Amino acid sequence: MEKMNIAFLASHGGSNMQAIIDAVKQRRLKANLVAVISNNSGSMALQRAEAENIPNYHISSLTHEDSNKADAAIVEILNKSETDLVVLAGYMKKIGDQTLKAYQGRILNIHPALLPKFGGRGMFGKRVHEAVLKSGDSVTGVTIHLIDEKYDNGPILAQEEVAVLENDTADSLAERVLVKEHTLYAETIAKIISKEIRLPII
Ligand code: GRF
Repeated sequence: MEKMNIAFLASHGGSNMQAIIDAVKQRRLKANLVAVISNNSGSMALQRAEAENIPNYHISSLTHEDSNKADAAIVEILNKSETDLVVLAGYMKKIGDQTLKAYQGRILNIHPALLPKFGGRGMFGKRVHEAVLKSGDSVTGVTIHLIDEKYDNGPILAQEEVAVLENDTADSLAERVLVKEHTLYAETIAKIISKEIRLPII
């Protein structure tokens, strides 16, 4: 089986990215980690990439005033890194049209709820878990999906449930969901590599 080249886009902590890096190091995933791109020069995600010797890049409105040029720069990095699969790991910017067009069907995202519930514009971080608690739902979870031009909208590849407990706060719920995120992301990518999950392009 060929190794797949994976590139990440991440804005903050990058704990999901780290879980995937660890899966590669432990040979649970057959992949080359070819690039980490962040819009946040001070992000932990870039520090993690540096520590793991993964080529890393800061692309934002600070490096490219024109958002179309930033988008083009991202495509250029992905292309030159011979990227097969783009993994969004807490990337807070909308993916640009050029990146989407060049990598459509090969860009994965993780969302900390059971889409299509609790997704869409503005639904990120703590807000997702607050909305779940407010809804009274007894179950939430994790979704891995392909992205399209709308927020949290593309085809769902994998989901896993997490029970909402009586005394949960947004923080306690986020913490338990994040633990599941870490395992489900690597497992889903492993299934893509083994072709148990077939993407439209790969
Ligand atoms: C995760 O909860 C993920 O579902 C969401 O952003 C968060 C990223 O966390 N898209 P981290 O940067 O991977 O630690």
